[in-house]
Amino acid sequence: MMDQPSGKSLTVLGIETSCDETAAAVVVRGPDGHGEILSNLVHSQLEAHAVYGGVVPEIAARAHVDVLDRLVVGALEQAGIGIDELDGIAATAGPGLIGGLMVGLTTGKAIAAARSLPLIAVNHLEGHALTPGLTDALLPPYLLLLVSGGHTQLLIVRDVDRYERLGTTLDDALGESFDKTAKLLDLAYPGGPEVERQAASGDASRFDLPRPMLGREGANFSFSGLKTAVRRAAFSAAPLRPQDVADLCAAFQAAVLDIIADRTANAIALYRDRLGPDAPAHLVVAGGVASNAGLRAALQDLCVEKNFSLTVPDASLCTDNAAMIAWAGAERLSRGLVDGLDVAARARWPLDADAPPVIGAGVKA
Ligand code: KG4
Ligand code: ZN
Repeated sequence: MMDQPSGKSLTVLGIETSCDETAAAVVVRGPDGHGEILSNLVHSQLEAHAVYGGVVPEIAARAHVDVLDRLVVGALEQAGIGIDELDGIAATAGPGLIGGLMVGLTTGKAIAAARSLPLIAVNHLEGHALTPGLTDALLPPYLLLLVSGGHTQLLIVRDVDRYERLGTTLDDALGESFDKTAKLLDLAYPGGPEVERQAASGDASRFDLPRPMLGREGANFSFSGLKTAVRRAAFSAAPLRPQDVADLCAAFQAAVLDIIADRTANAIALYRDRLGPDAPAHLVVAGGVASNAGLRAALQDLCVEKNFSLTVPDASLCTDNAAMIAWAGAERLSRGLVDGLDVAARARWPLDADAPPVIGAGVKA
């Protein structure tokens, strides 16, 4: 049985190192359950990985070691508090790149041990999932679409620590497929924003691209066939002029939006099925791809049609950050959900342990 949330104010340091962002933040959870960010520092390793066109795990782990201590000190300074004023240390323990996870979790353990503070080993996906509680005071249950470089999932957030996965990607994550499309077209990394920019001046109807999974039952995704189709279309139109690139980006994005709207519509039906017709009708979108204006517009249209409200946390809290880890840590701490110092980092860690495994999904599940 889970303890009820405690009524006292909790100040938590959060540490995030699961991918290519090193981050530290301090968040307060008030006695009434409201959240406040006291500091939120993110050091992006974008430049270190850009020349490789993707994240290199070994480079990422070393870069976390280089900057994390300074970021933690900076986050406390900016928050205007000393370590002794903290009530807990929250560190991402998975899923993600194991080297980076170990750097952040070990740092969290060291601070917790040295100051006899509780440690909360946070699932990175729970950080994303609970963010609307911090940014918009939105309480579960709600439906969550998580679309980032590493993840593409539809989940029911029933409560803290209670998630039901409705769908996940069978292959590439959505952000990854934006990045691969960009790489194929010789656009800058990370590709998402660049593909969106190009798409704005393109003709989406010039190339006829497939929409994998469209019309299929359930809420799973698949993007690798779309990527292959873009490659084929690019080869057939080569040498590519700027307008060809723009048209390909527009066609790719249009296909993506159709897929997302179709899958999310199914997830809304599943959400209503499982929670009943009176369940709060809220859709939350998080992850780096949530900053795509086309995606937000498509989901807004869907929400109007389905009578759902749409919440998209501010971009800085949609992408990877430590405030969401501190917040998830505070939510867990308030319910007595803490971890021992022997807790291990986990490259794979599904939020919904009961969800059937999906072939090919790897850590993205
Ligand atoms: O959440 P995030 O910052 O990092 C993780 O992957 O966890 O997401 C980064 C991903 C990248 O794949 C990037 O290309 C994509 O989000 N992205 C976008 C846009 N902005 C970022 N994809 C499409 N349109 C955008 N405007
Ligand atoms: Zn993330």
